[in-house]
Amino acid sequence: MKVAVLGYGTVGKGVYEMVRSAPGLECGPVLVLPHECTEPFMVTDIEDIVSDGSVDAVVEAMGGVEPAASFAEKVIRSGKHFVTSNKAMVAEKGIELADLAREKGKAFLFSAACGGGVPILHNLSVAVKSDRITGIRGILNGTTNYILDAMQSEGMGFDEALARAKALGYAEADPSADLSGMDSFRKILLACAVAYGRQPSSAKDVEGIYEFTAKDAQVINGRGGAVRLIASGGLNENGSVYAFVEPVIFFDGMEKSVRKNFNCVSYTGERAGLITLFGQGAGRYPTASAVLRDLTGIMDGTLEMMPHGCVRTEERNLPQRRYLVRCDSDMASRFSATEEWHREADTVWIITDLVPAEEMHDKVRSIRKEGRNVFFASVE
Ligand code: HSE
Repeated sequence: MKVAVLGYGTVGKGVYEMVRSAPGLECGPVLVLPHECTEPFMVTDIEDIVSDGSVDAVVEAMGGVEPAASFAEKVIRSGKHFVTSNKAMVAEKGIELADLAREKGKAFLFSAACGGGVPILHNLSVAVKSDRITGIRGILNGTTNYILDAMQSEGMGFDEALARAKALGYAEADPSADLSGMDSFRKILLACAVAYGRQPSSAKDVEGIYEFTAKDAQVINGRGGAVRLIASGGLNENGSVYAFVEPVIFFDGMEKSVRKNFNCVSYTGERAGLITLFGQGAGRYPTASAVLRDLTGIMDGTLEMMPHGCVRTEERNLPQRRYLVRCDSDMASRFSATEEWHREADTVWIITDLVPAEEMHDKVRSIRKEGRNVFFASVE
């Protein structure tokens, strides 16, 4: 199978190298920007790939929604298989592209878009054939885990930890999607799409780590806890599907021991019970290995991971959680607190009653509109 690659950055280069030495695969052209066109195998016009009848499959590793989505459509319409590592593009256009690929009898696969080398989407797409998945939950962003770990284990400041995550190549060029929780959210909604055929798309319940401070780390560590950024998705008893992202405080368990930039994600099958996957969620070869998994899957006849009839939903029926809230003491009465963890000058760290997660996200959003700072993390 001859494989063309769109993009020659961290992932694209890794894919090209791995395809070159993979049995049954052969390298086709690589699409780059004009100023990057330095090798004979490189081209700068997508039409050179679309019109090349010898190319069977195209791997997209450019990132961003456009022009990646338009290129995907052209490639699939031209009768080629399409594999991507681009979570933003699949989150926004994946359902339509998967329908088009199905119509054309070609593959649309995106293992590498969630979990890097960790085969969460692959496993879910296999598991749903024989089990009912009730929940999916875990650390799906290496950048934020690296920052949280450095702040809590080494006492490093937020800015220094972010600078290191950038230097190590974990963070996106623009790390705002990592830090705001949107990168984790896009990944969990892809997992929900694969597991449930429903893609929760309301990004209202997405909290990142911007508000987390060294003082929060000190208060939480003093109680024996550690904060991790957790993406959760699941199936309610009434059949609705939810997805949300928020910092979570762990006192023990696997997530607490996940250090540096690693990912750790679990899913629960009604029959299989809890399954946990741990590994490298980013980086050249882990991500390229997921792309190769899809390419070899195509050779074995696997053409889809997005279920037929998958739809976007705006459901927000989230579970109830207890939260640690750090806020100015005059705002504490807005939360129904059961316990005070710490007080310093005009700031309090309180623990709330059980509240539906969407209620907490809405409340904090409205407080921030008043220009006030709040940090919150659910308590495991
Ligand atoms: N910026 C992402 C992360 C890269 O830190 O997990 C992998 O999707």
